Amino acid sequence: MKVDGTPLRTIRAVAGGEAVEIIDQRLLPHRLVIERVASADEMIVAIRDMWVRGAPLIGASAAYGVALLMNADAGDAALEAGCERIRAARPTAVNLAWAVDRMLSHLRPLPAAQRRAAAWALADAIAEEDVAVNRAIGEHGLALIEAIAARRPGPVKVLTHCNAGWLATVDWGSATAPIYRAQERGIELHVWVDETRPRNQGASLTAWELGKAGVPHTLVADNAGGHLMQRGEVDLCIVGCDRVTIRGDVCNKIGTYLKALAAHDNGVPFYVAMPTSTLDPKLADGVREIPIEERSAREVTHIAGLTAAGELAEVCLVPKGTTAANPAFDVTPARLVSGLVTEHGVFPADETALRALAARSAR
Ligand code: MRU
Repeated sequence: MKVDGTPLRTIRAVAGGEAVEIIDQRLLPHRLVIERVASADEMIVAIRDMWVRGAPLIGASAAYGVALLMNADAGDAALEAGCERIRAARPTAVNLAWAVDRMLSHLRPLPAAQRRAAAWALADAIAEEDVAVNRAIGEHGLALIEAIAARRPGPVKVLTHCNAGWLATVDWGSATAPIYRAQERGIELHVWVDETRPRNQGASLTAWELGKAGVPHTLVADNAGGHLMQRGEVDLCIVGCDRVTIRGDVCNKIGTYLKALAAHDNGVPFYVAMPTSTLDPKLADGVREIPIEERSAREVTHIAGLTAAGELAEVCLVPKGTTAANPAFDVTPARLVSGLVTEHGVFPADETALRALAARSAR
């Protein structure tokens, strides 16, 4: 996507495989800072501390993390131990393990002397694939928006949660790809952006990227979605995902489940944009089986922003001594999901369809 006229991706290899450049997303929307990541350890910190975030981008970052590992030591022991450390950087988004496993199975059979070049080539391929996958999700999701636009005049009103935009992928975004494609087609749109407490990825990231792309949008508190749906102000919900089980249970940013419940109660279609790299065919019951990341209580008790003087600052919201819990994701049961928008088309959230999809993407 373009930022102020300049094409930008969230991650790219630089200097012929010496390092990787990423956007430090902790500083958006107030500062656009490109950081250089020069080792696997630095990439682990970038993933763990959410300089990069969003399931597909975490996958691409992990792949480059393995490539950085090979710059330092391409021996068997370093490969195995380093991959385990990268895999453990964050628990919920399955794209992390998916990318590490892909890198490992490609590199293991090779002699150490060939691993470095092979690792950079595959990491680049994974990143390029992510761009193509999300562009294809955009095409399939566009049909959903076009169908609503054809039914009546006025903007198609879309609600999204968290940031499943281009900042969460290498480019395009998953949930935003259909929005960007619809905008290119000249379809009138309006996007409700959930702020997405506690880290506010909606307020800080989705609002920023939609603004840069010129997509009309309005930020709402997380609690507003049910009210808007009751009033007929939402035609379609579309969100991203961090892990989807073979039965179609969807794990995504905390608060997604409440939006799906409200959508169900109000007859609003609730779609999930899912690259097949986010399908975890080993898991069935999402509520019981998907590991949910518990993040620092400080993300709930404090909030960061820009002061009137233009300084980045953090303030405390709660009485001294208040304890807080911070589960970062929740699971929306398949029965609440209208469909999964993938690079291969829109699939029902059920086991038969997802087994067929898994078989197709394994080919
Ligand atoms: O904790 P985050 O910011 O990594 O969580 C991101 C989300 O939950 C996204 O909605 C999801 O990864 C889909 S991104 C295309």
